[in-house]
Amino acid sequence: MSRPVNVADYREAARRRLPKILFDYVDGAAYAEQTLAANTADFQALRLRQRILKDVSKISLKTELFGQSLNMPLLLGPIGMAGMYARRGETQAARAAKAAGIPFCLSSLTICDVDEVAKVAPPWFQLYMLKDRGFMVEYLARATAAKCPVLLFTVDLPVPGTRYRDMRSGLSGPPQAFAGLKRVWDGITHPDWLWDVQINGTPHTFGNIAAAVPEAKGLGDFWGWIGRNFDASITWDDIAWVRQHWAGPIVIKGILDPDDAREAVRAGVDGIVVSNHGGRQLDGAPSTISVMPAIKDAVGDDMTLLLDGGVRSGLDVIKALASGADACLIGRAWAWALGARGEAGVSHVISVMRSEMLVALALTGCTDVKAAGRELLAD
Ligand code: GLV
Repeated sequence: MSRPVNVADYREAARRRLPKILFDYVDGAAYAEQTLAANTADFQALRLRQRILKDVSKISLKTELFGQSLNMPLLLGPIGMAGMYARRGETQAARAAKAAGIPFCLSSLTICDVDEVAKVAPPWFQLYMLKDRGFMVEYLARATAAKCPVLLFTVDLPVPGTRYRDMRSGLSGPPQAFAGLKRVWDGITHPDWLWDVQINGTPHTFGNIAAAVPEAKGLGDFWGWIGRNFDASITWDDIAWVRQHWAGPIVIKGILDPDDAREAVRAGVDGIVVSNHGGRQLDGAPSTISVMPAIKDAVGDDMTLLLDGGVRSGLDVIKALASGADACLIGRAWAWALGARGEAGVSHVISVMRSEMLVALALTGCTDVKAAGRELLAD
């Protein structure tokens, strides 16, 4: 295979290098994966206005979020188990993000814990509501001590979505016959991964929650604990509880409906991520890019709006900005690159997306990314 030149190439490279159980976890989504498909298809369907003769010799991609300067309106979004795609994968991705001058968001469900990643740079910290509030308090205190600047509070996973690829692969669902042998085969048929991660990338615990599950023997035990401990009773009132234990900005992740967006404004959050969890939760929910204009209209200009789901190029980022977003998070795009080539792959994907943003802005006649708005959209 020739060297990857874009995100789609990195997907194929990751498919070859990673054991199937891991590739399917990151690549897959809920039920028939229709929302996953809509996320990308609706970006492709959106049209931009081609504008000319506007002196685009200097273009600025710089922006600011919550007082933090970003070299471009892009963040590495929270991805579960990144440390299984490449050796200590979360730290590799955090280094790539730091070098590019953009934030790295650390999922709760990662191999490296917040302290290991904060040695590279304090990440934005993603939080799920767990039943054990005592654990949550300690957890938030750890993120504060690690100087995480922003809390991403994920609210679209009160219960785990049904993901058939994970059931088929044996990552979730009832135990399968010969599961251990199948995993060994999956590993030894991917020798680069085996050497890099399985042999040299230990420990393979979920670092952030390891202390709460001392009896865990493998990743399956952590998934079991997570399934039992996610709090399905969470409501808007819990935002106030989180606020009591977190002094910095709170960004609520997983809003897809204008009514919920208005509620988020009333709850006093500092930002919103328009997200359907990459199509991994409610299959049949609309794509994120299709709801973005209505959510922007619902919250107005004062609320910071981020978007994830289906962002596979810098062109998509510009389309999202034109639809009302202030910046985009990528998930699978960086996870595939990490699985394929580690930190070098993540750095490459960021620089490819940066070039794509610059070209998209030049050809739409916009010289400052902060000014990109609806006038860039055709129709
Ligand atoms: C976790 O957030 C997942 O989507 O697997």
